[in-house]
Amino acid sequence: MTSADHEYWDEPDAHGQLNDYLEKIINSIATPVLVKDKLHRWVLLNDACCAFIGRTREELRGKTDHDFFPKKQADVFWDMDNHVLVTKEEHVNEEELTDTNGVVHSLLTKKNLYVDPSGEPFIVVVITDITDRKRYEAALNESHRQLRILSAHTEAMVEKERTRIAREVHDELGQSLTALKMDCAWLERRFREDQTDLRARTQMMSQLIDDTIITVRRIATELRPEMLDDLGLAATLEWQLQEFRKRTGIDYTTSITPKDIRVADTISTAVFRVFQETLTNIARHAKATEVDLQLCVDAAMLSMRVHDNGVGITFEERNRPTSLGLLGIRERVDFLGGHTEISGEPGRGTTVEIRIPLSHSHIGGTP
Ligand SMILES: Nc1ncnc2c1ncn2[C@@H]1O[C@H](COP(=O)(O)OP(=O)(O)OP(=O)(O)O)[C@@H](O)[C@H]1O
Ligand SMILES: [Mg+2]
Repeated sequence: MTSADHEYWDEPDAHGQLNDYLEKIINSIATPVLVKDKLHRWVLLNDACCAFIGRTREELRGKTDHDFFPKKQADVFWDMDNHVLVTKEEHVNEEELTDTNGVVHSLLTKKNLYVDPSGEPFIVVVITDITDRKRYEAALNESHRQLRILSAHTEAMVEKERTRIAREVHDELGQSLTALKMDCAWLERRFREDQTDLRARTQMMSQLIDDTIITVRRIATELRPEMLDDLGLAATLEWQLQEFRKRTGIDYTTSITPKDIRVADTISTAVFRVFQETLTNIARHAKATEVDLQLCVDAAMLSMRVHDNGVGITFEERNRPTSLGLLGIRERVDFLGGHTEISGEPGRGTTVEIRIPLSHSHIGGTP
């Protein structure tokens, strides 16, 4: 007769005493703990474990998972026991368990092999009920998903409104200014040669109107460049860089393939806004003298990499919760199912890289 044939749970010998002693120790643990023999029989159970299963120790001792749990679940526990018996390695698994009251729990089960002095193997099982944690996790994910949808919706509304204002500013103000300019020219022609004051004043007005027309065009274009719809993403980003160089004196290089990039509106708008924020950051923070833009599109993916040769963003700066500009970049890209990487090296500049998959199934992002 081998030691495996002993019935540990009611044996009055040294084993029984040892079990009483062990039981006292494991009873002081608030987490459910149980020990199984190699035939999967429950040898030791602490109070927390009995309470968890909802039966007395006497009812549970000597039984197996199959006596109390649905077969499908018990089969999983059984397989995991065998895995530990064979590999002799610790094993952690997430499992579902329907208790004796029919309540379904999510469990994190940690199993270890213990071999007693006579060489007999036992499986020590420590159970953590993660049902609440899972529920909170699911609620948090759902809330995150909803917030992301709300944020994208708000962004889309803002974008629509920008487009409307841009058109109105461009068309209405543009037309009125052009009419005023024609009126100025008409007035100027009506003045006599000797009315130099009046002629000079009208010319100044005309000049002011010209400047205002340029300002209006710039405001409209910054709100939402028409060229994004007409000439496409590549031309718009190049134009942004030219304007940026004029404004800041920071030079640029580009590598764009192919030149004629065609992507969905949502994607070109997102990339345009990401680039806009990246350039604003370079102007405000980088102290750079040069920017490099690499844009590459193939059938599956759009990749953009913007590198400046400035001071370099720090780890703390790129992870600060108040870094809303960077958060906006990440959020836009995430929503399109893409990926953002922001890196920096002191004195060697900052790199913002985004990759957006071009299949529509990704839109909505991952929670
Ligand atoms: N190209 C860059 N070079 C160096 N530091 C940068 C660069 N881009 C961002 N940073 C640093 O990262 C921080 C966060 O950038 P982020 O765009 O999120 O915020 P911000 O530009 O300060 O404000 P805003 O919310 O108006 O964009 C910046 O304050 C700056 O310190
Ligand atoms: Mg910023």
